Amino acid sequence: MTIAPHGGKLVNRLVTKDQEDTLKEKAQKLKKIALSANEVSDLEMIATGALSPLEGFMVKKDYDNVVENMRLYSGLPWSIPITLSTTKEIADGLEQWEDVALTHNDEVLAILHLEEKYSYDKKKEAKLVYKTTDTEHPGVAVLYEQKDILLGGKVTVLQLLKHDDFAQYQLTPVETRKLFAEKGWERVVAFQTRNPIHRAHEYIQKCALEMVDGLLIHPLVGQTKEGDTPADVRMKCYEEIIEHYYPKDRVVLAVFPAYMRYAGPREAIFHAIVRKNYGCTHFIVGRDHAGVGNYYGTYEAQEIFNEFEEVELTIIPLMFEHAFYCNQCKHMATKKTCAHDSKEHVFLSGTKVRQMLGDGDMPPEEFTRPEIAKLLMDEMRDKNVG
Ligand code: ADX
Repeated sequence: MTIAPHGGKLVNRLVTKDQEDTLKEKAQKLKKIALSANEVSDLEMIATGALSPLEGFMVKKDYDNVVENMRLYSGLPWSIPITLSTTKEIADGLEQWEDVALTHNDEVLAILHLEEKYSYDKKKEAKLVYKTTDTEHPGVAVLYEQKDILLGGKVTVLQLLKHDDFAQYQLTPVETRKLFAEKGWERVVAFQTRNPIHRAHEYIQKCALEMVDGLLIHPLVGQTKEGDTPADVRMKCYEEIIEHYYPKDRVVLAVFPAYMRYAGPREAIFHAIVRKNYGCTHFIVGRDHAGVGNYYGTYEAQEIFNEFEEVELTIIPLMFEHAFYCNQCKHMATKKTCAHDSKEHVFLSGTKVRQMLGDGDMPPEEFTRPEIAKLLMDEMRDKNVG
């Protein structure tokens, strides 16, 4: 028994073989709109069904309902707008139902079947989706840089951008679903991450794996903010840790092509829904999931799940408290499972770890596996030399 995709059906917006040549030729003659890297990432996820039931960029009634009520117009839960923006000048030159070519680096990637163009209130979106209008927030900053008019409509995708670095880890929802079925996994937990793996990550992944059949480690490889560790380094860390510390027949490593919004609670819902489309039945939500700075409470990304019925989301969130190594217990724990004073707990902030790595100091084994610390130190040294 596999979990049904969000909305019931896995979307496929990739051009069919028999239409490919005709549409590619047609696209050359259409008006062209250049996509941002983030829009390309959304396009890829629409094409493969990762964003099911979305078949394109949102039209106004879906956009408004998502921003205001965390639901598509149909009533289905959806927490993050998926939009395509352009300038007023370009939008003025487009007609409803016109086909428009969507390009990146001068290559046509898709055709947008333009259903609607509409203006939107960025400040309102910031306030409701990100819970702040502060431009220091990296997600809000990206939103404010968007152009002023949104274009909504279905897309037909002619080609996906190739990520040469991660070729073997690029699995579409169809492929992960097939893989889980081949392995005989009925219950699969997904782990979202944008940071290098540390012991707390490993601990919550393994606690979750104790309860299900398999683990999908799904590092996000779209754009992240400056200062976050690059995706290729994070993937190397994962290869290394799986090699030394994970049961290989219970883990799948694949890349998640989304970009980070840093929208905390709203993004946790989005991350969960999308992993359901990849065939996962459970989803890990730890401390300050998808958060940044002090914009969200430590457990807000867990509490938001109460705003939906279990039957609406169907994917089950597995919530974890802040995990640490305890010097008295001599193993990993959370406040739920450890009786000792917090001064016995080893916890290092991201800033502190970066500072240690920068100074050539090895972070303690209680915080990060030595193989990972070494990889990160090498990376830091190469960067400083380069
Ligand atoms: S995130 O932006 O993708 O959430 P990160 O890669 O740091 O950032 O976290 C991945 C997952 O691990 C998230 O669910 C997060 O809540 C959880 N997490 C990270 N650190 C801890 C920790 N010390 N204790 C419990 N959960 C954690």
